[in-house]
Amino acid sequence: LAVGRPQRPASWWVGRRDQLLARAAVGTPRYVYDLATVRDHARMLTGTAAVDQCFFAIKANPHPAILRAIAAEGFGLECVSLGEIEHVFAHVPGLSPRNVLFTPSFAPRREYEAAFDHGVTVTIDNIEALRRWPEVFRGRTAWLRLDLGHGEGHHAKVKTGGVAAKFGLPLAKVDAFLDAARDIDLRISGLHAHLGSGIDDAGHWHGVYAHLAGLADMIGTVETIDIGGGLPVPYAPESPLFDVALWRAGLDEIKASYPRYRLVVEPGRYLVAEAGVLLLSVTQVVEKDGVRRVGADAGMNALMRPSVYDAYHGIHNLDRLDDTELTEFDVVGPICESGDVLGHGRPLPAATAEGDVLLVADTGAYGMVMANTYNLRALPAEDILDEGGIE
Ligand code: LLP
Repeated sequence: LAVGRPQRPASWWVGRRDQLLARAAVGTPRYVYDLATVRDHARMLTGTAAVDQCFFAIKANPHPAILRAIAAEGFGLECVSLGEIEHVFAHVPGLSPRNVLFTPSFAPRREYEAAFDHGVTVTIDNIEALRRWPEVFRGRTAWLRLDLGHGEGHHAKVKTGGVAAKFGLPLAKVDAFLDAARDIDLRISGLHAHLGSGIDDAGHWHGVYAHLAGLADMIGTVETIDIGGGLPVPYAPESPLFDVALWRAGLDEIKASYPRYRLVVEPGRYLVAEAGVLLLSVTQVVEKDGVRRVGADAGMNALMRPSVYDAYHGIHNLDRLDDTELTEFDVVGPICESGDVLGHGRPLPAATAEGDVLLVADTGAYGMVMANTYNLRALPAEDILDEGGIE
């Protein structure tokens, strides 16, 4: 490893094997989250001098204990629906509306009204809403979400910029938007851009800030610049580790060039992905036409990411972590779809058998919250590990 490159830390769950096996014995499928890991990741970002406020994109994991832990680290909470707004106020005691950001997409009119009533910061990303519902926005202050013309991220389905994406006001419409806003006395106090999810280039956010700051200088009323989330997680063994130091340095540098704006970031995955594991039980081990498959008691119903984005998650046999005789297996779920595969060709203990506990790693983000009851299978349970105890 080169000097100064971030090094991959050992996963928290390795030292918690017995505790996890005990929880699996209570029942699987089951997500388990380690709050210490959430806090560690939160602190990696709050330690950035250039960043004035961090918001956690709660869509990644809205578990109440996780929200409280992240809010206690000084984060605000970014919500994309009225359901999420009501959820954060219900579960985070003393949460100030100043620390809640509403960044909806194609939301119904009543959600904007309710968000203003709650006193949270509202982000708008099209002119049509202003023209159709002028009374909702008249005399208000809001942020404008922009499409900077291109998307980024780990998969086409999570790129949120460019012509193929439904998000954001294109730059060519900024003048028309500002005219429409002026007509109804709507003040734009923030500019926002989130180009996608799982962006490996640590310099990306620096560029977004520079772009938005240039626009903010022209607009004149802008106080805050929100450069979105999208910080990546090294899911696969060969994935590069995200260089937070480089990310910080880039923001420090660009903030020094445009010091007059409050800099806001809104990561989701980065805080919670590595803090979560999904525990499953092996149901059947089957060989067919030369392919060996390990079946688990949940698949795409508990974790959609592999089937939707071809996402990689490490899969380990928690009962046989030290076995050295390995065989390649496809790890599949019990759902009646061919896409119900959690991992292809994974080296797992050759002795893997019915009842063994499988651990699917790095599933704390977009795991449980995207789980479903397809085939009328039950949703996974959830546990929180904190200070050694289980909640
Ligand atoms: N801000 C906005 C406006 C967003 O739309 C998102 C995510 C975030 C922040 C947080 O992005 P993050 O830091 O977590 O990358 N289900 C997909 C990810 C969808 C992300 C949607 N928007 C997945 O499992 O990869």
